[in-house]
Amino acid sequence: MAEIRIRNTNERISADQDVRNFLEGQEVVYEHWDTSKLPAHLQENFVLSDAEKAEVLATFDSEIKDLSARRGYQIWDLITLSDATPNLGDLLKKFEAVHTHTEDEIRAITAGKGIFIIKGAGDVGYFDVELSAGDVISVPENKAHFFTLMDNRAIVAVRLFIEANGWIAEPYEDPSFVKA
Ligand SMILES: [Fe+2]
Repeated sequence: MAEIRIRNTNERISADQDVRNFLEGQEVVYEHWDTSKLPAHLQENFVLSDAEKAEVLATFDSEIKDLSARRGYQIWDLITLSDATPNLGDLLKKFEAVHTHTEDEIRAITAGKGIFIIKGAGDVGYFDVELSAGDVISVPENKAHFFTLMDNRAIVAVRLFIEANGWIAEPYEDPSFVKA
């Protein structure tokens, strides 16, 4: 289950309904998939062959089709990041910059953990959404954010796109952003 940390106050929100209510108030879509459906050899496995990636996508085919039908996604893929990823450190440095794009950013975590840092509406300021396996999140278009890994440095996630070129990151210069 996702957990929220509001950076200005250090308040944590972890009860399921409170997390859902908070994210809904921020127009962040939050859903959950049952990752116990995954065959055992694909659970918490971060180094996947192309055939295994296809197997993960096939496991969640009905969830992907359902999301796509509701929200207009046309294409999807599966990404893996772990210490086995070449240049992971450099990649994470690139990730950790606040940006926006004209398409929403949707991720369904099928293994591992990740974190979205999002600029909240009004005076909420930046908040973290800590995600684990099963969490599905969509950061709305044009909302300032970035994504990175957590201490375990490993994730597998489905990405869905309305159109691939709608997802070019625009840097978002924000003097109020403070790295945690
Ligand atoms: Fe993004």
